[in-house]
Amino acid sequence: MTRATVLVARPVFCDIVDRLRERFDVRTHDADAPLSQPELIAALQGCAGVFITGTEKIDAVLLGACPQLEAVCSMAVGYNNIDVPACTARGVVVTNAPGVLTETTADFGFALMMATARRLAESERFLREGRWKHWGVDMFAGGDVHGATLGILGMGRIGQAIARRGHGGFDMKVAYHNRSPLAPDVEASIGATWMSLPDLLRAADHLVIVTPYTPQTHHLIGAGQLALMKPTATLTNIARGGVVDDAALASALAAGTIAAAGLDVFEGEPTVLPELLALRNVVLTPHIASASVPTRRAMANLAVDNLIAALTGGTPPTALNPEVCKR
Ligand code: DGY
Repeated sequence: MTRATVLVARPVFCDIVDRLRERFDVRTHDADAPLSQPELIAALQGCAGVFITGTEKIDAVLLGACPQLEAVCSMAVGYNNIDVPACTARGVVVTNAPGVLTETTADFGFALMMATARRLAESERFLREGRWKHWGVDMFAGGDVHGATLGILGMGRIGQAIARRGHGGFDMKVAYHNRSPLAPDVEASIGATWMSLPDLLRAADHLVIVTPYTPQTHHLIGAGQLALMKPTATLTNIARGGVVDDAALASALAAGTIAAAGLDVFEGEPTVLPELLALRNVVLTPHIASASVPTRRAMANLAVDNLIAALTGGTPPTALNPEVCKR
């Protein structure tokens, strides 16, 4: 029997790729930089499956150029890089990696929010630059986290995990906005109250954004929304660049409309707006919220589980279009 061919589009833990080698002919892309769209299309010729991350773009053009493709398996939970309806129309199974990164991503979101509120990055730069000459009463004085109002925009798994940390660990009041409110018992367990978006923006001392990026959430936070926030408030984005209008955010930070921001994701990343880079009151990290070794391994293993199931007649554990598998 001929073995199917799969492409692993980014360098991934070797022992996890070996799980694919047991069943398939495996092509790998070993360079650090991602493949361009034409390179990805060329590498995919003859492949039945592809292992991707949140970076590779899977759209109708690529699908049209890769007619043998049957399964697209991403190790990311976010899938705004994949045109799922186009895949479904062509009978291509799509999977993502929900669940396995929830707690790690929530840890990071909370850490970034705390670093932003307590001015960690700014004060560390000050020390390293040799500028610390005396202890000062208001030196790098920021906002408190404990007891403050934690605003969460997007209350899926990760939002709820952040709420648990704030409510249970830091005695925070938790307010959130989501298209659908949580069930009352879930709200009670994390001490969370649903609010309209404008009310949430007015109430939050620390706003953490974890909503998926869709056409509906593009620039959900822009100049008008930032103007509703407290001048002492912070904003942390661990969702996707594009949910926040970065240019409007940079202007709001420069003008003191809000106090500070923590950003792990950017519009057009890995390029970051020069206006953001120039600001002292923003903590910037390179899209690493899920980057603990155990979690990145769990994400990769889940993508491999999905790819094996999709190409061997099984049921992929986390398919986004499971109806394709039943055809
Ligand atoms: C995810 O899993 O969506 C992370 O943001 C990495 O892309």
